[in-house]
Amino acid sequence: DGKIAYRAQLLYFTASPEQIADGDATVYLPDGLLVVHDGHVAQIGDYQALAASLGADTSVVDWRGKLIMPGFIDTHLHYPQTDIIASPAEGLLPWLETYTFPEESRFQNSGHAARTAQFFLDELLRCGTTTALVYCTVHPESAEAFFEESHARQLRMVAGKVMMDRNCPDYLQDTAESGARDSEALIQRWHGKGRQMYALTPRFAPTSTPEQLGLCGELAQRYQDVFIQSHLAENTAEMEWVKQLFPDHRSYLDIYDHFGLLRRRAAYGHCIWLDETDRHRMAETGTLAVHCPTSNLFLGSGLFDFAAANAAGVPVGLGTDVGGGTSFSMLQTMAAAHNVARMSGHHLSAHTLFYLATEGAAQGLDLGGQIGTLAPGAEADFIVLDPQATPLLARRTARADSLEEMLFALLTLGDDRAVAATYAAGRLRHERSPSV
Ligand code: GUN
Ligand code: FE
Repeated sequence: DGKIAYRAQLLYFTASPEQIADGDATVYLPDGLLVVHDGHVAQIGDYQALAASLGADTSVVDWRGKLIMPGFIDTHLHYPQTDIIASPAEGLLPWLETYTFPEESRFQNSGHAARTAQFFLDELLRCGTTTALVYCTVHPESAEAFFEESHARQLRMVAGKVMMDRNCPDYLQDTAESGARDSEALIQRWHGKGRQMYALTPRFAPTSTPEQLGLCGELAQRYQDVFIQSHLAENTAEMEWVKQLFPDHRSYLDIYDHFGLLRRRAAYGHCIWLDETDRHRMAETGTLAVHCPTSNLFLGSGLFDFAAANAAGVPVGLGTDVGGGTSFSMLQTMAAAHNVARMSGHHLSAHTLFYLATEGAAQGLDLGGQIGTLAPGAEADFIVLDPQATPLLARRTARADSLEEMLFALLTLGDDRAVAATYAAGRLRHERSPSV
């Protein structure tokens, strides 16, 4: 098949957050051309420079006035919690018991799982998210259904069956052995099939026995390119509980460390109640800390210390944490991350936030060069953002004096309405219907 070229403003990032802050790592082309072939970026450059050299077989799609950037990467959320988003509770543990566990019981039914996965993936695409680290439920059927739907859409998704063998309702428990066996079967079936990738998913330390964490660690060792995802240091009541359950460990993080669950391609949600020893250990092992600001505010969990994580060299990603989080939109999640940083007297620039949601997440997940970028060779997962999507956005971005100001208005005032189109593997997967 022929090449397709997209004309628009183009934006992507090439390096670390510090360099982003200085603007050196930003590639911005006010009138650019993105050439896509066979699901990958073939070329990128100024329209004027590239247009003349395009062959007759290349069609040009005109997105002038819009901004094309890499699709967003949401590094932590739960697809079975789609229907309990915005359920009020007095903090994490009551929320889990009252809403989350009963809801997750529905996902042993493959039909329900498939229908929910369809809605969930459509919602991600409407919000411009093209890759996500997704929790399923304890039921292998829930992971099977999710991968089927993601594979059918050719999306690069990372997902896994939850492992939990204690401290949760009987109807949601596996055993150390069955959890490991079912996870391994899913790895063999789905990891590397098309664009699908597997994540070992022990829910969090309180719901796994040491035996289960041990078997999970063995799988993590045996399958080095498989991901690991869990929750860490989210809530003070959870911290107390963990201390009682694992009295011999120096810290919550140390439990995961003990079982071999800290390494590249491991991603931990929340990471609020850490100390400097923990941060250095995460940095040393290349473990990703996932900042979930809308969830942390909604559940009252605490304020993630981005400045401390960054200073210690911990890789950081952003996560919506739906259904603890209150939005599928990574723009809204960036806005919340900005506000949380402000509460401790720090500033997060729009450049840094867009970096964290694209290239930064890709690097943190060991997927640099593959996703999160528009550099040649990357998979063609990109979005078309509309700085005029709403009357207020149009009015505000018209007044922006710099790219930073324009991007800042876009993330603060934007949501799914600001996503004009989403492409995955070079195919149009969502286009916003024109509205009044
Ligand atoms: N900790 C353990 N399970 C969960 C979950 O489903 N959501 C959140 N936010 N935290 C958790
Ligand atoms: Fe979560």
